[in-house]
Amino acid sequence: MLRQKIIAGNWKMHKTSSEAESYFQEFLPLLQRRDFHKVLFAVPFTALRASSAAVGQAPIIIGAQNIHDAEKGAFTGEVSASMAKAEGAEFVLLGHSERRRLFGETDGWIAKKVRRALTDKLDVILCIGETQQERDEGKTAAVLEAQLRGSLAGVASEEMRTVAVAYEPVWAIGTGKTATPDLAQEAHALCRKFLERIFDKTIAERVPLLYGGSVKPEHMPALMQQPDIDGVLVGGASLDPEEFAQIANYELS
Ligand code: PGA
Repeated sequence: MLRQKIIAGNWKMHKTSSEAESYFQEFLPLLQRRDFHKVLFAVPFTALRASSAAVGQAPIIIGAQNIHDAEKGAFTGEVSASMAKAEGAEFVLLGHSERRRLFGETDGWIAKKVRRALTDKLDVILCIGETQQERDEGKTAAVLEAQLRGSLAGVASEEMRTVAVAYEPVWAIGTGKTATPDLAQEAHALCRKFLERIFDKTIAERVPLLYGGSVKPEHMPALMQQPDIDGVLVGGASLDPEEFAQIANYELS
């Protein structure tokens, strides 16, 4: 089955609104239009409006990197789904390992954020992944299943139409140690199996699964050839328009 390919950048805490504008001025002419893939950017809240204005009618989708689970309320410093949407976000990254590790986000809390995003009509890229220690201890499969079950608790099958999952092994994020295509494929196949257990086969085959962790342009052909890898989520290499354009313009060899 032909799943949508997704090439997503995650800027993390980088780029002001004017830096975002200059980025897209440089990036847009470099992007080859393809009808089989979507190009997405998860940008800081403060760059949402400038980024969505800068991409204009170009086939690029802008999103946020987090939201709070509540609709509104006394949550000093937080941003709601409807606020992010009003600034131009069409999707949100949830459960990124930096949110889990540095900001104490648990699967239970992430599940509430997923619910909020779906209720308020933001698409979701749910991030999951094992640590080096969990891999060394042979716990990778159990961790991935628990994260998928926990973070998608309360999501109905039909709502999975607007959810993608990013497998990002924590040991590969920002370390330069990208997973080999075989290892990534193996983990993606596991995720698909768990999605079938949690939902059903149709859903499991439809959900786009992205790989993330030190992706560089040279990794693209081999990664994208794997049967269960439908795209990538790119941190560091998405900050440079030329490098990210090379990733988005990948050719299968
Ligand atoms: P990286 O980040 O590409 O810099 O490893 C990926 C991510 O955290 O999404």
